[in-house]
Amino acid sequence: MTMQIKSWEAYQSAYRCSVADPEGFWAEQAKSFVWRKPWSKVLEWEFDTPRVQWFIDGKLNITENCLDRHLPQRAQQPAIIWEPNDPNAPNRVLTYGELYEAVNKTANALKANGIGKGDRVCFYMPMVPELAIGVLACARIGAVHSVVFAGFSAAALADRIKDAACKMVICSDFNNRGAKHIPVKAVVDEALQMGCDSVQTVLVHRNTGDDIAWMPARDKWWHEQVDSQPSECPAEVMDSEDMLFILYTSGSTGKPKGVVHTIGGYMVYTCFTFRNVFQYQEGDIYWCTADIGWITGHSYIVYGPLLAGATTMMFEGVPTWPDPGRFWQIVEKYKVNQFYTAPTAIRALMAHGDEWVEKYDLSSLKVIGSVGEPINEEAWRWYHDKVGRGKAPIVDTWWQTETGGIMISPIPGATDTKPCYASYPMPGIQPVLVDAAGNEIEGNDVEGLLCIKFPWPSILRTTYGDHARCKQTYFAPFPGKYFTGDGARRDAEGRYRIIGRVDDVINVSGHRIGTAEVENAINEHPLVVESAVVGFPHPIKGQGIYAFVIVQGQIADTAQFEQEVRQVVSRVIGPIAKPDYIHIAPGLPKTRSGKIMRRILRKIASGDTENLGDTSTLLNPEVVEALIASAKAAH
Ligand code: WTA
Repeated sequence: MTMQIKSWEAYQSAYRCSVADPEGFWAEQAKSFVWRKPWSKVLEWEFDTPRVQWFIDGKLNITENCLDRHLPQRAQQPAIIWEPNDPNAPNRVLTYGELYEAVNKTANALKANGIGKGDRVCFYMPMVPELAIGVLACARIGAVHSVVFAGFSAAALADRIKDAACKMVICSDFNNRGAKHIPVKAVVDEALQMGCDSVQTVLVHRNTGDDIAWMPARDKWWHEQVDSQPSECPAEVMDSEDMLFILYTSGSTGKPKGVVHTIGGYMVYTCFTFRNVFQYQEGDIYWCTADIGWITGHSYIVYGPLLAGATTMMFEGVPTWPDPGRFWQIVEKYKVNQFYTAPTAIRALMAHGDEWVEKYDLSSLKVIGSVGEPINEEAWRWYHDKVGRGKAPIVDTWWQTETGGIMISPIPGATDTKPCYASYPMPGIQPVLVDAAGNEIEGNDVEGLLCIKFPWPSILRTTYGDHARCKQTYFAPFPGKYFTGDGARRDAEGRYRIIGRVDDVINVSGHRIGTAEVENAINEHPLVVESAVVGFPHPIKGQGIYAFVIVQGQIADTAQFEQEVRQVVSRVIGPIAKPDYIHIAPGLPKTRSGKIMRRILRKIASGDTENLGDTSTLLNPEVVEALIASAKAAH
């Protein structure tokens, strides 16, 4: 197993070693895995192209590391515990032995349906074990998975299927989430009418048993394809730098991009960070509440825990159904030892009052984690006092889809915790703060733009089908460094506090949403001439979405219009991107070169109009007063 850091001294020494000799440090970690053929060189990199390769020429299959190698000791140990949406429905427990068999059978079924090494398979599924099984089955045969969060719309799904030219889509019939019963296959059917010519097969998992439309030439039942397959499927021998998966994420411009992760480095880094951040011990029950549709689910529900031989939980439902005690009831039921969730869930549950959390025995919890957005001090304290009972340390983990694994986080038992601080970098991570001109800001007690100046094993390798975009987004802004898009502060002792995005990405309930994407969607409404979308502070969601909209002529029924705009956004992206406020605006503040001054719009959206800064460069300064006046109506 990769090293587990247990003291401040051990952390300091590991960190020093990882900076002085990164290749030696990561080679040591990588040795604890099963390789079909060892690497010839640990690392080659330059951030200009960019080109990063880890464990060069190494041959392996990640599923042999998640499954096969654990069988001698863990065949009977639960690998995945699945808790259904309905608390009264039966749960499912898959041991390592059973998961091995399920993955192998599914891998054989994929092969029988023409899927092979390098082919892309799209998943559009609820949180059921078959999602994890399917993802691992792809990895078993060298196919590339692209999981799309099942809350995205048909149009968003179609975009992602087309971008990666997926050969197969795997979905369920329907999905249960809280009180909702959601048609999933119907969304896939709709998406596939939008020109997804690459798709040959839709594999449908029977989840709820509801009636669905069926296209016999294209659709196949999971159980009919999988159940009769042999329970051994030889693992495809893969190169370290072969693609493991694509995961789409939003940026400040254009359509979402497909972040590409490769096998070797991702494996080493997710296992290493899982073991250290959560201090997982033999026999522990670990639960991450994320959805596998996001990177957190990939790295810390599926790969990291299984690589480490852990018992990992999957939850189908939502935190507030049937009541706001659901999370804590599950913690008590399974005696969960490590619990990992998002600040938005903590704030939402906090708002329901302490009685829900006080009702349950949470004494099993040893480490509690937070991810996806900044955690405010009030939520941090409540989480610490009420959920962690003042004893379980909070790991505030900062990282991104692009980083593949946790980058900055406390290590319980080794480093301390401080409210709002993700604190110290993981071994191997070399963060720097720069100013707008790219100069490194040295010293402590400073603030700047967060960059990373040296590669780590699970850094993104490219954005699918568009390497130039990868360079332009992450490596061109500050040559020689990876730019995160986040602003951060470094305190007097060198701990990091993440302040939030400095680009046009907003973080709504921990979901990354590009303002440009929302604007493009809004602009599809026939009466909209132009729009500008910004984030504003929201007490539960972290950030809310505020849309300034310029319309053609007079809107007779504004309530009706707003509803239509929200519907358009739901249709183009998904309900998660619906604006909280729609402000029918008299105009947008623009510079002489025609650029929208978002800085001013952000202030108006947050109601912070005392000091708007310099507006003298505006082409139309008079619009600012009019916007402030009309903003009151929008709120
Ligand atoms: C934000 C999620 C503050 C940040 C794993 C980052 C955070 C974006 C934290 C990535 C944290 C994530 N504190 N902000 N602990 N963790 N973020 O790609 O703005 O969905 O750039 O990855 O979330 O979101 P993504």
